[in-house]
Amino acid sequence: MEPTKRSTFTGKLGFVLAAAGSAVGLGNIWRFPYLAAKYGGGIFLLVYVALSVTFGFALTVAEIAIGRKTRQSPVGAYRTLHRRFAFVGALASVIPALVLPYYAVIGGWVMHYAVGFWSGGGSKLAQESYFPAYIGTLARPALWLCAFVALTAVIVLCGVRRGIERVSRITMPVLIVLMLSIVLYALFRVEGAVDGLRYYLKPDPGKFGIKTVVAALGQLFYSMSLAMGVMITFGSYMSRDVSIERATHQIELFDTGIALLAGMMIVPACFAFSGGDPEALGAGPGLMFGVLPRIFAEMPGGELIGGAFFVMVLLAALTSSISLMETLVSTLQDKWHLRRGYCCLAVAGGSLLPGLLFCLGYGRWSEVTLFGLQIPAFFDFVTNNLLMPAVALATCIMIAYFLKPHTLTDEIARSGGFRRKALF
Ligand code: PHE
Repeated sequence: MEPTKRSTFTGKLGFVLAAAGSAVGLGNIWRFPYLAAKYGGGIFLLVYVALSVTFGFALTVAEIAIGRKTRQSPVGAYRTLHRRFAFVGALASVIPALVLPYYAVIGGWVMHYAVGFWSGGGSKLAQESYFPAYIGTLARPALWLCAFVALTAVIVLCGVRRGIERVSRITMPVLIVLMLSIVLYALFRVEGAVDGLRYYLKPDPGKFGIKTVVAALGQLFYSMSLAMGVMITFGSYMSRDVSIERATHQIELFDTGIALLAGMMIVPACFAFSGGDPEALGAGPGLMFGVLPRIFAEMPGGELIGGAFFVMVLLAALTSSISLMETLVSTLQDKWHLRRGYCCLAVAGGSLLPGLLFCLGYGRWSEVTLFGLQIPAFFDFVTNNLLMPAVALATCIMIAYFLKPHTLTDEIARSGGFRRKALF
């Protein structure tokens, strides 16, 4: 059957905002600050930025180029480039199928908190026992999971330009304005925040180690949406007159900038409210859902700030889950040439069941472990620590030894040259 004509983003801004929307998500706002606090503040930031301008840059450029050159989603893209690497494409598409349900569960929590703050329930959300009790039930997290998946599906259904691009064009600027306001508020109005800022930014060389590098690299892949076919899919919608290199710089700037800002927003505030106790920063998921609402409750005007904060996180999570769903939808469409609507329905429906499993994994089944890890943590480990590095490594091997780098560098240089070709 003739493949249907592929949609494209309208231009450079559309592509950059959509790809940045994918990159900026829960990884930046929730995971990055907590990792930075845990792995020595400033030293983690240094390592992260160094990896981002080298590895991160090279892999992002490569994935976008693979997508744009082949004009296909990951399965077809890898097969077209090299038959022997077709399995990498299949592997890369399994990852978003595992990540989407998990991501949507947390997206559902965020939605619940955003609605809770706006409907005046901030003080209830701030009670210490609220978060564990909430995730301990099944009905409410499951309901919010469905709401989050449905919202994502509606946007994906509207298409690349009218859905994804339009939403990113609105949400990304709003996100930045909200974020800057909260950072300024936290730094100037919260007493003791400046000491927290110092803790966050000052490198502590004693905390440097191989673990810092591994943690930073894992975070980089996750945060830039790499090694799971997302950037390949978005690259396949990129028009040929946009410079891949320049677009990559801008996406990285967005992603790293927002992660650093998120740290400036969360670490000093938590530091100040815990009376300078670094232990309080290691609260993991509890940091955003447990500790922050308590901080908002004690701030003057906290209901409003809390409401704005959770709306911001929701927008970030939404644009990321859109990109995960789009990757799966586009893979189904390319493979079976089905209508977009059916593919959206299949992906949304298919992610609800594992999503419920994850809800249970956090709640009633929190005692159940696989290889010593809780169910969600186990899948997080399999995708982030096993599958993603495997896909990244296989992609590098394919480009370096089987394809010859010029296959991609030619594609990258097509629009506006390639200044950092040597680095690549
Ligand atoms: N990059 C997103 C974040 O930082 C997570 C994500 C990974 C989204 C992969 C889409 C694909 O939260």
